[in-house]
Amino acid sequence: MSNPAGESFSGEKAYYVTTPIYYVNDAPHIGHAYTTTAGDVLTRWHRQRGEKVWYLTGVDEHGTKVQRAAEAGGVTPQEWVDRLVAESWLPVLETVDAVNDDFIRTTEDRHVQRVQKFWEQVRENGYVYSAPYEGPYCVGCEEFKLAGDLVEGTGEFAGQMVCPVHGKPAEELREENWFFQLSALADRLIEHYETHPQAVRPQSAYNEVMSFLRGGLVDISMSRSSVDWGIPLTWDPDQVVYVWFDALLNYATATGYGSEPGSADAAKYATTFPADVHLVGKDILRFHAVYWPAMLMAAAEPLPKQVFAHGWLLVGGEKMSKSKLTGIAPEQIIDHFGSDAFRYYFMRAIAFGQDGSFSWEDMSARYTSELANGLGNLASRATAMVGKYRESVLPEPGPLGEQEMAVVDRLAAAIPAADAAIEELDFATAIGEVRSVVELVNQYVTEVEPWVLAKDEALAQRLDTVLYTMCEALRAIAVAYNPVMPKAMASLWEQLGADAALGEIAAQRLGDASRWGQLPPGAVITKGAALFPRLPDESPEI
Ligand code: ME8
Ligand code: MG
Repeated sequence: MSNPAGESFSGEKAYYVTTPIYYVNDAPHIGHAYTTTAGDVLTRWHRQRGEKVWYLTGVDEHGTKVQRAAEAGGVTPQEWVDRLVAESWLPVLETVDAVNDDFIRTTEDRHVQRVQKFWEQVRENGYVYSAPYEGPYCVGCEEFKLAGDLVEGTGEFAGQMVCPVHGKPAEELREENWFFQLSALADRLIEHYETHPQAVRPQSAYNEVMSFLRGGLVDISMSRSSVDWGIPLTWDPDQVVYVWFDALLNYATATGYGSEPGSADAAKYATTFPADVHLVGKDILRFHAVYWPAMLMAAAEPLPKQVFAHGWLLVGGEKMSKSKLTGIAPEQIIDHFGSDAFRYYFMRAIAFGQDGSFSWEDMSARYTSELANGLGNLASRATAMVGKYRESVLPEPGPLGEQEMAVVDRLAAAIPAADAAIEELDFATAIGEVRSVVELVNQYVTEVEPWVLAKDEALAQRLDTVLYTMCEALRAIAVAYNPVMPKAMASLWEQLGADAALGEIAAQRLGDASRWGQLPPGAVITKGAALFPRLPDESPEI
């Protein structure tokens, strides 16, 4: 985690991206790592554009689900979450190589106090009242279920209504609760989404939200009286804030909601909140696209620019999950392939917004063809040939011919196209654009046969041009791929001698990346370790 110390929160608004805060009932699996990786690629891309960015992730520590996990583990909820956060949730950020700016835990003081303040404000604004609640509650979802939410059970639950995600019957609750007057905000939500169609993406998610809103909204409990692992209501301390109405607020509390006017935290809130993109899985779309903006409306706070609901990683056709024990730990994949390949594979192989399955075979095949034989081989050929033919010094190119111009032109088209795709959170297309440059240069090398040019002294300048073209194209590829594969691209950058010539890779701007001729002749090229080494033969059992 790289929290830029002393970052000033004045001036320009940051491009603010969040992940869900994950339940710490258990350790993370690749579904959680998937969202975190997407957010990290997105925010690194925006940083590489030269924008001010704020990337928040964290954990959801309250609620029945976590409390029961702790009980089953024979420890207090606080001990349980402290251990899992330290041993699993913080380390996984390093495992996937995420550089978040902050990490919020809902048991932190800053969160607890600001959640209390927020609900006092909403109550003061007239949106909170007391009433009994009676109805089904799914602890897996931590959700009060509506009539239309449950489906016919199968197998041991045949004849009962079950939660479609967890496959189990919901529990029947009867509690005296405090209610949030959601129904009063239905029309404003509809109007907001009609005038801001980009606010829920992809289109399928937008349509789902609109049809839910048009079906009418009922008021919803904002507190729980039968739960005590949570944040007490200030006006009724026997009750705690309903876990979702505690958790959603992390996006505001972490950025300084409710701080003393004039304080550093107030400035941070003003220049960070609201989020530009809330990344979520489609399982929690309704919370983010209906309840969350309604809460903000009730408190008179600004609404997020966009909620993007991505698809599920599936196992045997079902959502991979902690509760069904179908999770694959990120380390199982990353120990074998490395974090760069993990990031590349999940952003490249699954259209963001659609479901996808992980398969060891598919990942191995893409690793070998696209990374090891594609980009890795191009880098090793370029650096080895400059070493062998030009004593490791990048030569001055001669005039560019038609073949070189094709590379220059592809690059000039590919990077803006990738940038436009990232704007739509279409990671697969963005990666495909950069990959088209790699493919073209590999094809170019095969056609011009530098090893043949090297045999004829009269063709020395032609060889100079070819070697320069390979290295200069790799320079631009390294910049464009840096948000996706930061470790391998830092290594490539060094091998190209670009660190010494152009400064660090993170300081290179995407908007300038396709401008030809930046790597200076004379740069010292070194053939380093393979960017994507051959995989160990044994695949672990997963
Ligand atoms: O819902 N495929 O936490 P959670 C893709 N605490 N993404 C997946 C996934 C899968 N199979 N499984 C999990 C909660 N995810 C709440 C959120 S936010 C204010 C509170 C990812 O631990 C995906 O982002 O159940 C999903 O929405 C999230 O983890 C749910 O994590
Ligand atoms: Mg869940």
